[in-house]
Amino acid sequence: MRRIAVLTSGGDSPGMNAAIRAVVRSGIEQGWSVYGVRHGYAGLVAGDRRELSARDVGGILQNGGTILGSSRCPEFADSEVRRNAIELLQRAGIDGLVVIGGNGSQAGSLALTKDGFPVVGIASTIDNDLFGVEITLGVDTALNIALEAIDRLKNTASSHRRAFLVEVMGRDCGYLAMMAAIAGGAEATVIPEFEIQPGDLARAISDAYTRGKPHALVVVAEGSKMDATELVAYFKSHRDQLGFDVRATILGHVQRGGNPMAFDRILATRMGWSAVQSLNSGLTGRLVGLVAGKIVALPLAEIVGRKKELDPQMLTMANAMTI
Ligand code: F6P
Repeated sequence: MRRIAVLTSGGDSPGMNAAIRAVVRSGIEQGWSVYGVRHGYAGLVAGDRRELSARDVGGILQNGGTILGSSRCPEFADSEVRRNAIELLQRAGIDGLVVIGGNGSQAGSLALTKDGFPVVGIASTIDNDLFGVEITLGVDTALNIALEAIDRLKNTASSHRRAFLVEVMGRDCGYLAMMAAIAGGAEATVIPEFEIQPGDLARAISDAYTRGKPHALVVVAEGSKMDATELVAYFKSHRDQLGFDVRATILGHVQRGGNPMAFDRILATRMGWSAVQSLNSGLTGRLVGLVAGKIVALPLAEIVGRKKELDPQMLTMANAMTI
C-alpha cells in the first residue's frame, strides 16, 4: 500500500483544513495511507507526523486555521536539512508529499523535487501572489473579512465625516488591497505596485469631500512604501491645511483567522483531490491551482521565484468608481 504525507506551511489561510481533509480522504479512497505532518517543514525535519483516518479529518471542513499547525522554517533552504527530512520520509515508506502553502512553502516543494523527492503543491495564501494561478486558497475569505470591516468603518466614518485608512495584509503584493478597495467602494487605494505620494492622497480625500461625500475611505496594502500608521502620522501633522480628521484601522491577522467561505471550501476540495490524482499519475514537481476555472498542475519550476503582476486596468477601474 502506498504512503503519502501532507503538511501546511507558512502563513495559514482559510481553507487549509478543507484541503487537508480532501487530500486525506482522496488518498484513502485510492487505498493509500496518508500521514499528517505537524508544523510544516519543521515537523518534516523532526519526523513529527501521524497517520490520519477519514474520521480524523471529520468536522474540520468549516474551520479556519490548520489542524496540522504551520510554521516558517528558513532552515529548510539548507540541502543537508532537506536530505535528513527525505531520509526520515523514506525510512517510513512515504513516497509522496503534498505541500499546502504559498510562495516560500512552494520554494521548499521545488527544492525537494530537485532533490528527487516527489512533491505536489497546493496554492494556498491569502496574498494571492503565486505566479501562474488565478486565485489562491484563502483569498476570497480574507477579502470578505476585510469587506465586513470596511462596510462597518464606512458607517462610522459617515457619521463623523471622517477619513479612514484601512490597512490590509498581502506582504509585498497589493492584490488584497486593490480588490478590497473595488468591492468596498474605497475613495483611494495605496498599493506597493503603484505608489501614490501622501500629498496626492490627501488631495484625493479632500476632493471626495468637495464632491459631497460624507466620508473618505482609503485601503492601504501593508507592503506599501508608507503604511497606514505612517500615513496617519503625515495627515495628523498636516491637519490644519487638510481640514479633515483621519483614523486608521489595521486588520492584520484578523483576515487570516476566519472560517472559510463557500468558495474556499470548494477550491480547497478541488485542489486537494487534484493533488492526489497528480501523485497517482506520477505528475509531481507540480503546483495545483486554478487557471481559467479549471484546476491544473503547473510545473513548480515555472512558478517559484517569479512575480505575479497586478492588472493595472483594475486600478484604473477602481479610480473611475470613486467620482
Ligand atoms: O503570507 C501571508 C501573510 O499573512 C502576509 O500577508 C503577511 O505579510 C504575513 O503573512 C505575516 O506573517 P506572520 O504571520 O508570520 O506575521
